[in-house]
Amino acid sequence: MTLSQIKIHHFRNIDYAELSLSNHFNYIVGDNGSGKTSLLEAIYMLGHGRAFRHIQSNRIIQHEKPELVLFSQIESSQQTRTIGLSKTRHNENTIKIDGDEGFRLTDLAKLLPIQLITPEGFDLLTGGPKYRRSFIDWGCFHHYPEFVSLWNNLKRLFKQRNALLKQSSNYNQLLPWDKELAPIAEKIGDLRANYCQNIFPQIIETCHDFLPEYQLNCQYYQGWEYGTPYADILYRQFERDKFINYTSLGPHKADLKLRVDNIPVEDLLSRGQLKLVMCALRLSQGEYFSEKTGQSCIYLIDDFASELDQNKRNLLAKRLKSANSQVFITAVNQAQITHMIDENDKIFHINSGIIS
Ligand SMILES: Nc1ncnc2c1ncn2[C@@H]1O[C@H](COP(=O)(O)OP(=O)(O)O)[C@@H](O)[C@H]1O
Ligand SMILES: [Mg+2]
Repeated sequence: MTLSQIKIHHFRNIDYAELSLSNHFNYIVGDNGSGKTSLLEAIYMLGHGRAFRHIQSNRIIQHEKPELVLFSQIESSQQTRTIGLSKTRHNENTIKIDGDEGFRLTDLAKLLPIQLITPEGFDLLTGGPKYRRSFIDWGCFHHYPEFVSLWNNLKRLFKQRNALLKQSSNYNQLLPWDKELAPIAEKIGDLRANYCQNIFPQIIETCHDFLPEYQLNCQYYQGWEYGTPYADILYRQFERDKFINYTSLGPHKADLKLRVDNIPVEDLLSRGQLKLVMCALRLSQGEYFSEKTGQSCIYLIDDFASELDQNKRNLLAKRLKSANSQVFITAVNQAQITHMIDENDKIFHINSGIIS
């Protein structure tokens, strides 16, 4: 999958831009505040319906403009597709694929698989479990077609269960819900475990490439103790759950534990090393996706050079080049990226939202 063209209207400080893109590396070079991250956010938004830093549409629509509009042309091995997306200040979204309306955000995500590496992305390692769950679920979403509907059912059932916890005096009142919920939770747990099992060797190998001095260990935690049926957990936890009006254990508590010598990576490694672990996770996920689907992800890498020494930048660049995917990289000056520019790459200079 590659973007051959993108048009951006009224997106943060970018009033209008129309870019024809390289299907290899696209470098976006500009000073602080010139609009580099905004350009990456516009691309991200085409695949997610929202920006990665700002949830409120009012923040991403250009000041004094009623709406933002994005358009892109996507090439895959079989066909060319177009995506159009607009968002108003009242949070009304229109998604058009090949000119037709009525699509959902999941349709965008299927069409435009994106791996994002940003300075904020350290959350994946240093933030709460939700960041790592969403990493695992990205893979489940793209590799197991049944995952989305299982997930939607689970969300609905948990909502009903948690509401019911407030009113029920004995466990039998919850039993009909739990009979429906338990197999879905276990299925989700199994899909996640399966995905992790497939991707862990690749993560470990990539980490070894980037940080040969450390032996990374990855472990998936399903959200409740192993070997115990989830239905038994729900029954056993009833009194406690009732007390807090919330289901305390389950797939909504799943996590990914990354350790070196039994120490969590976030407690041991430096910022630069953590950045490499984060890159290893994203790259492995993207490479596994390509291997399984024959399609490639788009990589968005904000502030490529930050936290990394020259040697590590070279390692990362080499790995990205070998992924044979479309990559967008931002940098504050060209010197940071000169060593990696190839003849099929494109460099865009951005100044106060104007791209040349
Ligand atoms: N809604 C908006 N309308 C117009 N300009 C905006 C809006 N939101 C942010 N900006 C401006 O966009 C500029 C670009 O931000 P950003 O893309 O983060 O820059 P960079 O990544 O190049 O450092 C900032 O200087 C900011 O003031
Ligand atoms: Mg930036």
